[in-house]
Amino acid sequence: MTEVIDGNAVAEEIRAGVSDCVETLTDTGVKPGLATVLMSDDPASETYVSMKQRDCEEVGIEGIHVDVDNDAPAEELYDTVERLNDDDDVHGVLVQKPFVDQVDERRVLRTIAPEKDVDAFHPANVGRLVAGDPRFKPCTPHGIQRLLESVDVETEGKEAVVVGRSDIVGKPMANMLFSKSAGGNATTTVCHSRTEDLAAHTRRADIVVAAAGRPEFITGDMVSEGCVVVDVGINRVERDGDSELVGDVAYDEVAEKAAAITPVPGGVGPMTRAMLLYNTVKAASAESGVDVELP
Ligand code: GUN
Repeated sequence: MTEVIDGNAVAEEIRAGVSDCVETLTDTGVKPGLATVLMSDDPASETYVSMKQRDCEEVGIEGIHVDVDNDAPAEELYDTVERLNDDDDVHGVLVQKPFVDQVDERRVLRTIAPEKDVDAFHPANVGRLVAGDPRFKPCTPHGIQRLLESVDVETEGKEAVVVGRSDIVGKPMANMLFSKSAGGNATTTVCHSRTEDLAAHTRRADIVVAAAGRPEFITGDMVSEGCVVVDVGINRVERDGDSELVGDVAYDEVAEKAAAITPVPGGVGPMTRAMLLYNTVKAASAESGVDVELP
């Protein structure tokens, strides 16, 4: 029987725990604040940012949103980030990716104060993760770690294959899977668009994390019986005249073989959002010195 890993349910538990932390902090006069910044007219990015703001409201985090005109000079974005760095009411700063062409991505990520970098994209925070001393864990891989824990998937000593090498998911996910200090301790392979015979790798895997950004890329013949499959993809495809949301995994055929699988939607997506709230209260707690019991 395949276990469908319920990201909505696990995320709800995390949000409940975050709400308690917010209450503790607010009672001592510290209202956690998350600033989102959007310099883009991409409708998907607009939707993601408004969902993050709605999540904040639900758990009592003060959501602050700043729109920067997507035709404005890049300096306007850098200045906005610096202003938010200096704002004591803001504990987390998130600039929604992807960035418009005139913006230097590396500069944006370096400009966000590391202690407010709730995405964990600043090189100092990437370095801390790699060094085994994370300030924040990046939201998607952290969410995946929690999903695996929620269904008692043991990663230690297992073969994990990550498909995709992005800065947001693939690289930190692989790091957390193989590292001892992050709890993974798995033998971890990172595959990507140039991997020869991808299926030979994924078939060996006890755990497959599909983060390639390609619709239904991982098919049933590419996985082994009893594996655990985590689908990070969110792809909109046109099918029979309708627009449909699919992951990077061909769900039905992979689910037939998998012991456990995350659905799309309702798997990784809600966890990414929940872990952003988690990082925001963590930032507020660290900044204020008020201890909270993180969920
Ligand atoms: N765009 C897509 N995912 C993310 C994310 O996790 N953080 C930011 N800042 N932008 C994104």
